[in-house]
Amino acid sequence: MSNAEKPVIVVVGSLHYDIMVDAPDRPRKGETVTGHGWRPKFGGKGGNQAVAAAQAGARVRMAGAVGDDEFGRFLLEALQAGGVEAAHVRKLAGIGSGMSVAISDAGGDYGAVIVSGANLHLDPAHLEEADLWRDVRALILQNEIPDRLNLAAAGAAHRVGATVCLNAAPFRPLSDELVALVDLLVVNALEAEALSAVPVTDLASATKAAQALAARFPIAIVTAGDAGVAAMAPGQPPVALEALPVELVSTHGAGDAFMGTLVAALAAGGSFAQSLAQANRMAAAHVSRRPEPL
Ligand code: RIB
Repeated sequence: MSNAEKPVIVVVGSLHYDIMVDAPDRPRKGETVTGHGWRPKFGGKGGNQAVAAAQAGARVRMAGAVGDDEFGRFLLEALQAGGVEAAHVRKLAGIGSGMSVAISDAGGDYGAVIVSGANLHLDPAHLEEADLWRDVRALILQNEIPDRLNLAAAGAAHRVGATVCLNAAPFRPLSDELVALVDLLVVNALEAEALSAVPVTDLASATKAAQALAARFPIAIVTAGDAGVAAMAPGQPPVALEALPVELVSTHGAGDAFMGTLVAALAAGGSFAQSLAQANRMAAAHVSRRPEPL
């Protein structure tokens, strides 16, 4: 498909220089654990989702901010290498790029810290530029940039008739103004529980949480890790997809692979069920390999 034929997706969100540490276990409070490897990689939920959407066949424009530093240069190059248009990513002087440290344990789980840096300092006025929104079909947002930026982006997308998609990760309370603009919500089990007050422990409870969230969001999707994915959309039967059986290597970034793939598939005209299944397959493939530098 030529670039001109691809559906256009705008991603407004975070860019992080990720430092990935492999260790037998994650340290508990006050504990020092001896790890056995580390490597840097491109990251940030916004950046990961932008690359996933581009890899799934969308034309992706990213808006965000990096610092005028080595990490920022790395992030811009990696974004472009991942097939994402980066003209709307600002390089801010005097402030460091966002970064993260993630410690992955032998079981494939991880714990991470993010330092947002430049991601917090994008001027919302940059999100008003008309060429950012030209021909856009969908907007992807996450919770790693300030709510006022998400709100500015969602408002601009709404005005041009684009579908506003929010991956509400990591959890934070959502403003009523933002909720009113969101067409499609994706959350994991913990975020679903925090937003819906329904504890998510299996596919049945994920379905209950998705039903509760569907009272506030037109489309509500709960990704429940190895329990599967539950989804509700207007005029569609509820979807409950079992997780695909895979050997778990690392869950890091799997939600981002799901989100970028899902929105790209929907923007390309895929049915709800087909797009969910495609995203589910991509997330399964993602957890079965080690996160690599882009
Ligand atoms: O979802 C994984 C991402 O979350 C990482 O790339 C990290 O930077 C954090 O933002």
